[in-house]
Order: sequence, then C-alpha cells, then structure tokens
Amino acid sequence: MTAATELTVEGLSIRFGGLTAVESMSFEVKEGEVLSLIGPNGAGKTSAFNAITGYVAAAGGSIVYRGTSLIGLKPNEIATLGVVRTFQKTSVFTGQTVLDNVLIGLHLRSRQRPIAILLGLPSVAREERQLAEEARAILRFVGLDARAGEVASSLPYGELRLLEVAVALAAKPRLLLLDEPVSGMNPAETASFMKLLAQIRGLGITVFLVEHDMKMVMGVSDRIICLNYGRIIASGSPAEIQRNPEVVRAYLGERYARAQG
Ligand SMILES: Nc1ncnc2c1ncn2[C@@H]1O[C@H](COP(=O)(O)OP(=O)(O)OP(=O)(O)O)[C@@H](O)[C@H]1O
Ligand SMILES: [Mg+2]
Repeated sequence: MTAATELTVEGLSIRFGGLTAVESMSFEVKEGEVLSLIGPNGAGKTSAFNAITGYVAAAGGSIVYRGTSLIGLKPNEIATLGVVRTFQKTSVFTGQTVLDNVLIGLHLRSRQRPIAILLGLPSVAREERQLAEEARAILRFVGLDARAGEVASSLPYGELRLLEVAVALAAKPRLLLLDEPVSGMNPAETASFMKLLAQIRGLGITVFLVEHDMKMVMGVSDRIICLNYGRIIASGSPAEIQRNPEVVRAYLGERYARAQG
C-alpha cells in the first residue's frame, strides 16, 4: 500500500529582488514519513520552508496541503490546517516561563470566546485546567517537565530548542517542519533528539526536516531531497543520496572532509 500524499509542491520558485533562492522545485511529502531537505548554506532550504508556511510569497508554482492551496494564506491559517514549523533561530518568548510558552501555543487553538473569558464563566476555569494539564503532558513528552516553572531565557541552548518543539506540538501539527532542530546541540542531546523524533513520528505526525547533521539525517529519514543553488539535484533513500556523485560533489564531500579534518 502506498502512503497518501500530505503535501504537494509543484514548480515552486522564490525570489528576493534579483536573487532566485528557489527555482522550479517540485516534490511531495507522504503521510507518516520523515522527509529531509539537505544542501549547502544558502541553497534555499529555509526559503522553501518559509514559502510553505506562509512567511514568504512564492514567485511561482503551487503548494497544496491535503487538497487545500496554501498560496496566499497567512502563517496562522496554515498552522490551523495542521502545517506547523519551528525556526532556524529560536523564537520562544524568552521572558515567559517554559510552561507559559507551551500554554500560549495551546491558547492559539483554544475554543473559549473572549466574552466567556471576560465573564469568568466556569467553563473558562475548566478549560484553563485542561490546558495546563495538556501543556505539562507536552513538556513531559519532550523531557522538559522539570523546567516548567523556569524562565525560558535561563534554559541552556539545547533545552531551548526542545521548548521550541514543545510549542510547535502545542499547535497540534499533522505535518511538522523542523529547521535545523539540533544545530548547537552536543552529541548526547542530538542522540536524544533522534529518539524524540521517533516518538513524534509514533504520534502519526509527518516530519519534514532541514538539517546539516548528516548522522541524524541519514539515521532518521525515509527519503532525502538535496537542494543546490535553489534546485533539486537529487532525491532518494539515505543510501542512494550518500552515494550520489552530484550530492557528494555539491555538499556531502565537503562536509565529510570537514568533519574528518
Ligand atoms: N528575506 C530574504 N531577503 C533576501 N534574501 C534572502 C532572504 N531570505 C533568504 N535570502 C537569500 O536566499 C538564499 C537562500 O537562503 P536560505 O536561507 O533559504 O538558505 P538555506 O538553504 O536555509 O541556508 P542555511 O543552510 O545557511 O540555513 C540565500 O542566498 C539567502 O541570502
Ligand atoms: Mg536555513
């Protein structure tokens, strides 16, 4: 049985003034898979994420999520459909506690209307309790429950990245886009993040990953797409990508040489 298609991108182009960041990019994300997007710095990976999640306008092409075109939709509208992303640079509210960051994420999809909140109806208190429990469950899931009461700015960098994933999970993703989630993590943190990714997948969430850590990419991906200068130069299984001469020339060769040197 072949998996259903979750996201279809066709002929996507992204331009910044005279610069073409992405040129005629076409690919699909299948339901339940971990798909990775790799390529050199400036290849257009984050730009592709930005177009899919409504942060930059596409200059051309189509982006369809489960039958709905995402072109022209705002980031929050796209998140409501189930397409949720994290950012390459952390974007949590550093002045808020860890728990409050997740609660803010949950509130974005809370059903309570302002009038019920203003009147302090019992349903509001009930929902608040439910949301707090849900937030704690999410923090347990990512392994941050012991940090719930701490101000986000006091977290070490690796935990800040986990908090960002927790906030994304609070938005109830069906398709989760992660932009370099383990950059800045040490090897032990990266290894435990790979386990978390397997658990996220166990929840039935489809994962679209941008990452430079090739040990992680090769270990977690079902399929990999390689971008170079805004164009897809290869796609396939981790084994196929690792031995693809063009990928080695454009990206892997240089990185493996650097890792060994
Ligand atoms: N908002 C922007 N305005 C102008 N140029 C941009 C903008 N965002 C990205 N670019 C340019 O588009 C190209 C692709 O950048 P992008 O951030 O998508 O690369 P990337 O593959 O994510 O790289 P990295 O691995 O370093 O994160 C680069 O040349 C970059 O300078
Ligand atoms: Mg990037």
